Amino acid sequence: MDTQTFRDTLAQFVTGVTVVISGTGSSHQGMTVNSFTSVSLVPPLILFCADNRAATLRAVKQSHRFTVSILCEEQEDLSRRFAELGPQGDLFAQIRTAPATKGIPYLIDSLGYLDCAVHNIIPAGDHHIVVGHVERLGRLNHGYPLIYFRHQYYRPVTSPPG
Ligand SMILES: Cc1cc2nc3c(=O)[nH]c(=O)nc-3n(C[C@H](O)[C@H](O)[C@H](O)COP(=O)(O)O)c2cc1C
Repeated sequence: MDTQTFRDTLAQFVTGVTVVISGTGSSHQGMTVNSFTSVSLVPPLILFCADNRAATLRAVKQSHRFTVSILCEEQEDLSRRFAELGPQGDLFAQIRTAPATKGIPYLIDSLGYLDCAVHNIIPAGDHHIVVGHVERLGRLNHGYPLIYFRHQYYRPVTSPPG
């Protein structure tokens, strides 16, 4: 199986888009993530998969905490920023955030956020599966989601139920 066929086949699966942020003190890293999913209701667990090279994964391993912000359709620019800017860029310039536990920011204009402690980190090939225990969460806005499909962004054509 060649890598391109693998990627193209997986790209047939539509997802939302999230931004995962972690770090300690005033040093934070963030990355765009579409591998986010729920795992368990009791206890409340979620997961995402992070490339072994991701600076955000290093931050998660250090701080044992992270936030997940679920992006709305107006936040394509933020998705691009957190996917492309890299750890040296000024990721948080002119972005509206609020601090969760230990001061890790989340994006307040997103649809909702989860504030997580690391439950488990499992190596899996060239990624790590990060399982988070959700300690706080909230719905923030009533907008529509940002959609990712076949390597492109979409906005909902019909309005989802409120
Ligand atoms: C829509 C979208 C979804 C992404 N999902 C993931 C993901 O689930 N896991 C991952 O490791 N990288 C994902 N990426 C790529 C990372 O966002 C990108 O590699 C980022 O630069 C890593 O940042 P960091 O090294 O500063 O932590 C995604 C990129 C895009 C555009």
